[in-house]
Amino acid sequence: MKTAKLLTLCLALAATTAWAGPHGAGGGADPLKLKGDAKNGEEVYEVCSACHLASGIGRPDGTLPVVSAQHKAVLVKQMVDILTGHRDNPTMLPFAQSMTPQEMADTAAYMTTLKLSPKNGKGSGKNAKQGMALYDKDCKTCHGAKGEGNEAKLIPMLTGQHFKYMQRQLAEMRAGKRKNADKDMLKVIKSYSDADIEAVSDAMSRLPIPKK
Ligand code: HEC
Ligand code: HEC
Repeated sequence: MKTAKLLTLCLALAATTAWAGPHGAGGGADPLKLKGDAKNGEEVYEVCSACHLASGIGRPDGTLPVVSAQHKAVLVKQMVDILTGHRDNPTMLPFAQSMTPQEMADTAAYMTTLKLSPKNGKGSGKNAKQGMALYDKDCKTCHGAKGEGNEAKLIPMLTGQHFKYMQRQLAEMRAGKRKNADKDMLKVIKSYSDADIEAVSDAMSRLPIPKK
């Protein structure tokens, strides 16, 4: 049953060239192109909530990101990257493998409906001001003035994300350990010191959460 599902997914992925590039735009059974059913996604998400929590808020200790309210396309892309090994995540791999392309679209559609929390993990605040200056100079053009990201360009929203998670992602990207990192973003953070990473992550963790 599980094998059959995986086979379907592999065939679906093989049938498209979308996964060759970082911003896949191919045709075929691309889960990015499937309309998600949030109701079915809620059911599938039950198994995910063991790690990501029912709220989707993850953990401030940096091990689990906030997945709530994130752009649907961003969530789908990350799941596909985890499945195809573009983003190493051995802990979650079996769960990515257990989903059909439709279930990926469905869970993503569900996660976008979950709310952000103002209680996300924050930095010390000591260098948040310098961090905001770095953000405005180097990050805003892509991630947006309010950290809102850009769904069409598969740029993640950073508002409400945990400080320690962002700090770790930036350090891992700089070290070349996150294979799906954006090439133009890498050019920017290559020269960042640990202190720069700490400061900018602190600033981003404090971006105000919009009222909806
Ligand atoms: C055993 C724990 C575990 C389970 C179960 C799990 N995940 Fe994850 N997931 C993780 C971890 C850990 C990360 C972050 C890895 C990292 O830091 O690079 C992650 C990352 C993600 C991301 C990327 C988020 C981002 O902002 O980049 C998505 C989307 C995701 N998971 C969806 C799911 C879905 C959907 C399920 C259920 C089918 C699921 N996960 C089940 C551990 C888990
Ligand atoms: C050229 C556009 C661009 C610029 C400039 C840029 N980013 Fe990004 N960033 C991206 C994209 C695209 C991704 C998602 C990559 C992927 O698909 O995994 C990303 C991912 C991230 C993530 C990981 C989010 C997650 O949920 O895992 C963080 C944190 C981040 N960026 C912070 C920054 C910071 C801080 C700066 C400025 C120093 C910056 N970015 C500059 C495009 C950019």
